[in-house]
Amino acid sequence: MDASQALDDTLKSTLSEAYRLIKRGVTDRRNAMHTPSVATLGLDGRPRIRTVVLRDFDEGAGTLRFHTDRRSEKVSELARDPRIGVHFYDEAAKVQLRIDGSAAIHCEGIVADAAWIASQRMSRVCYGTDPAPGSVIERADAFHLPNLDPEIAAGREHFSAIVVTISAIEWLWLKSGGHRRAIFRFKNGTESVYSQWLAP
Ligand SMILES: Cc1cc2nc3c(=O)[nH]c(=O)nc-3n(C[C@H](O)[C@H](O)[C@H](O)COP(=O)(O)O)c2cc1C
Repeated sequence: MDASQALDDTLKSTLSEAYRLIKRGVTDRRNAMHTPSVATLGLDGRPRIRTVVLRDFDEGAGTLRFHTDRRSEKVSELARDPRIGVHFYDEAAKVQLRIDGSAAIHCEGIVADAAWIASQRMSRVCYGTDPAPGSVIERADAFHLPNLDPEIAAGREHFSAIVVTISAIEWLWLKSGGHRRAIFRFKNGTESVYSQWLAP
């Protein structure tokens, strides 16, 4: 069923529905919203895009969070230019969200520590990959993943939490009988919202 079917044609309830879908993406691992695509500007200026797991959405602060290896290319790209795009498509709800934001890279400190502590063992293992993600290797299996606890714990130095401050959400709902498209722009978290309908 189209999860947004009961939605009335107001910008306020449309934004609430966007928030509801994103929140479900954090908690429901089987939901399409759990694995958005994240776009950065490559070091050579080309667009770069990849899937990540959505770890948190803070509605008040207007932020999203995902985790990555600080040795990965996306971290170098975001360190050079923090502008980021996040794309979701919830097939069940028939809703696409395109989010513009700015990324902060947390390798040390409270945000990174809390995220690492909350991570499961199987997630932490990835940060012990040797050589670093993206390195050229001689054979398909010529890399090492830690399996002993001290070695897994040492992966902490490669872990980073990326916090995206949302500047805009573009909503597109493939509604039977007439699509709906809207833009929501933010300043200071989600406090100051500027909303408009757009032709789909
Ligand atoms: C379903 C799925 C979930 C993924 N989740 C993450 C993630 O949360 N963090 C991450 O860094 N990479 C994740 N990846 C791998 C990335 O898509 C990407 O291949 C990797 O991070 C290297 O990207 P980069 O070279 O652009 O930095 C995931 C891939 C898939 C298919």
